[in-house]
Amino acid sequence: MESISITATFTVYPSVNELPEDVRLLMEAAVNARKVSYAPYSKFHVGAALLLDNGTTVIGSNQENAAYPSGLCAERVAVFYAGAAHPAVKINKMAITAAAEEKVVAEPIPPCGACRQSIAEYELKQEQPIEIWFMGETGKVYKSDSLQNLLPMVFGGEHL
Ligand code: THU
Repeated sequence: MESISITATFTVYPSVNELPEDVRLLMEAAVNARKVSYAPYSKFHVGAALLLDNGTTVIGSNQENAAYPSGLCAERVAVFYAGAAHPAVKINKMAITAAAEEKVVAEPIPPCGACRQSIAEYELKQEQPIEIWFMGETGKVYKSDSLQNLLPMVFGGEHL
């Protein structure tokens, strides 16, 4: 019998003000996206912003639907748009922020499992890690050096 042990390490920043300038600006873009997200059902607003290798910023926000499963998370809106509009450009960083209408979200909100799988596809495709920076509305910001840190033992195209 053998065992496999997997560790995930995150860097914790005390607040958005302590972030490196490029990431602070990226988080600002995510906040602006979050503020106009379409979330009339959950009232939970999520914004995401990607910094591409050519300096372009691509944003996404959650887009809900009266037929609930037809909606999409902010992170997937962002990576799918980047994949559609800039198919050959690598994604360097992703910033994520979430806020609720009925309470203050003070803890970092990580991407959901389906978003992790979708982001992983692009990280595997570009053969370069994507930094994931995530926060709530206020408070600490967590940084993951790569998506694989959030989704160890990832399923990818090489398994097919
Ligand atoms: N949501 C995101 O946009 N990203 C996540 O990673 C988690 C959840 C959205 C989906 C839905 O519109 C709302 O948050 C509540 O789940």
